[in-house]
Amino acid sequence: MKTIRMGIVGAGVWGANHASIYNEHPGVELISVCDRDIARAQAIADKYGIPEVFTDYTEMARKSTIDAVAIVTPDFMHADIAVEFAQNGKHMLIEKPLATTAADARRICEAVQKAGVRCMVDLHNRWNPPFNTAKQQIDSGALGLPYSAYIRLNDIKWVATDMLSWSARSSILWFLGSHSLDTLRWLFDDEVKRVYSVKREGVLSGLGVDTTDLYLTTLEFEKGGIAQMENGWITPNGNTNINDFKFNMLLTRGMVSIDASSHNLIQVVSEEKAATPDILVSNFVFDRCKGFSYESIRDFVDRMIDGKDFKVSLEDSRKGVLAILAIMESARKGVPIEVEY
Ligand SMILES: NC(=O)c1ccc[n+]([C@@H]2O[C@H](COP(=O)([O-])OP(=O)(O)OC[C@H]3O[C@@H](n4cnc5c(N)ncnc54)[C@H](O)[C@@H]3O)[C@@H](O)[C@H]2O)c1
Repeated sequence: MKTIRMGIVGAGVWGANHASIYNEHPGVELISVCDRDIARAQAIADKYGIPEVFTDYTEMARKSTIDAVAIVTPDFMHADIAVEFAQNGKHMLIEKPLATTAADARRICEAVQKAGVRCMVDLHNRWNPPFNTAKQQIDSGALGLPYSAYIRLNDIKWVATDMLSWSARSSILWFLGSHSLDTLRWLFDDEVKRVYSVKREGVLSGLGVDTTDLYLTTLEFEKGGIAQMENGWITPNGNTNINDFKFNMLLTRGMVSIDASSHNLIQVVSEEKAATPDILVSNFVFDRCKGFSYESIRDFVDRMIDGKDFKVSLEDSRKGVLAILAIMESARKGVPIEVEY
């Protein structure tokens, strides 16, 4: 079996998950890790026996013999790193979102094209089992044509206040909206034409995190489909799950409904709290990564090995960024905005 020599830039919360997947994948040699915080990079290197440790990604891009790199730095810090690795001929798995400005998205796409490297963005909800089943049902044609949809993907406050040190420098639209938007584009099999979004602020800023609490967005698709998309991070911390994830799609001859966070497969109740632990997204079974968020990373490696197309194209990711920028502009100006591709 062909093996892929992988490296990781960004040894934080999610970079550690990447390392765990590459470590258990028989087609991967994990040989390099970089974080500007040497202790984080070294901790992952020690855990998985990774020989190369860097604090400067430009040095890693130039010196390491990796075939591909996973870029797992904060949302707004993907572009310079991606351009550097592309220019050094490395294939890339970039964490979502591709970038947070149109100029950065363009720079990455141009560098990828010029270098002739392969690049996938980790928009992993396409691997989420109920959504993947919904896609199969919709594509079968048995339910008619997609007509309208509602999607809510929210996080509890803790994600913005504690989990991410950089939430005020990103947005819930980048952190979760990138997933919802990609899911809608994929299920409608269509491009967003026009958006109208309303936002609210004050809850998180009152907790010391200067970021928008919530966006409610209406999207119109090219072929006539319409959707409402809710993204916020002010769900109470007492919620039984970090996510609050709901979906409904009306088609001309049917309907699909998903509740991806309030499952009833397991409930754990202590004296303080009731929980429905994650058994879908990033859970472990006998120390092996099982959730769908790991499947997308495995899929990147598998497609690198067999050479087939990635299930999320770079163009998907670029268009998603442009649609989210239009949503932000709409919420800022209070008017509908046409998405310019
Ligand atoms: N697919 C998913 O479900 C999922 C889940 C969580 C996070 N993410 C994404 O993963 C990315 C990272 O998120 P996280 O939660 O791991 O953040 P994090 O803050 O825990 O980790 C980011 C790491 O990047 C390092 N870093 C920053 N700039 C660097 C640079 N120039 N060179 C080297 N290292 C640098 C930081 O020191 C830090 O260790 C984000 O884009 C986030 O949206 C995706």
